[in-house]
Amino acid sequence: MGSSWTVAVTRQIPDAGLQPLRESTTVKLWDQELPPSADELDALLEGCDGAVTLLTDHIDGSVLDRHPRLRVISNFAVGYDNIDVPAASERGVLICNTPDVLTNATADHTWALLLAAARRIPESMAYVREGKWQTWGPRLLLGREVSEATIGIVGLGRIGKEVAKRARGFDMRVLAFDPFEDSNFAREHQVTYVSLAQLLAESDFVTLHVTLTPETQHLIAAAELDRMKRTAILVNASRGPVVDTDALVDALRSGSIFGAALDVTDPEPLPADHPLVNMTNCIVVPHTASATVQTRDRMAALAAENLLSGLRGERPPAAVNADEV
Ligand code: GLV
Repeated sequence: MGSSWTVAVTRQIPDAGLQPLRESTTVKLWDQELPPSADELDALLEGCDGAVTLLTDHIDGSVLDRHPRLRVISNFAVGYDNIDVPAASERGVLICNTPDVLTNATADHTWALLLAAARRIPESMAYVREGKWQTWGPRLLLGREVSEATIGIVGLGRIGKEVAKRARGFDMRVLAFDPFEDSNFAREHQVTYVSLAQLLAESDFVTLHVTLTPETQHLIAAAELDRMKRTAILVNASRGPVVDTDALVDALRSGSIFGAALDVTDPEPLPADHPLVNMTNCIVVPHTASATVQTRDRMAALAAENLLSGLRGERPPAAVNADEV
């Protein structure tokens, strides 16, 4: 206990993060399974100098105004759309996130979803479990070929690039849409930048890796789904609201695309009776793209390091507004 700092941690995170925080601060831990309500979050943040938050915690100017001692918010996620960063910068509050440490896990998970949807793995498992497996069938549970197909990556940032590298192993043609083009990466990894319209029209697999901003909200809506091939699969491991849920339900119901695989949804969580949960051509998993033991340990350690270095007045390893505060 080398300091008099008090920090909030809004859920049980791995010990790799809790331990260093406990060694040098007083930790107020929200140890329930469900996130704190707005009032409970307020009570937790009372008297805190910093906080480790999750993407289910909404931090805006009014929360920060109620807790003027807060100097650092360290989000346990790479995305930080749950935080009003300009409001934090105006108030001199440092916002941190956990990039890089979860890139491989998220790219791997994207591929798990893509392959599972292409080869209808959950449907095939249900078929066996339900006792329907009678014989080898020439037309049984036919999926879509992945090798040598075209993959379209929307958002070629850290995670999109790792998805692209893995696509080369399947001898795929790789298209990408991103307003910020990295021509060196594209040349080295044989990625072709195209417009979103061309990507949607030509890809057998469309995978989303953009951050959620006003510009990317409903980036994939009815018109975009309509542009996709009837044989195509949509994968979303970015943020739920990037896709218009109602339009996706319509596209999957009408068969205007082959399938979808979603790590993220809008709303989140999806109720068990939601149409997307109950369609055989849609896979939904509960936002688990970074959920490996190793990655969650690294995220916890980085979130703690960000918070402690911010409190010490140093530049944290991953701060999103260090130049604005
Ligand atoms: C999870 O979605 C994250 O942003 O890390």
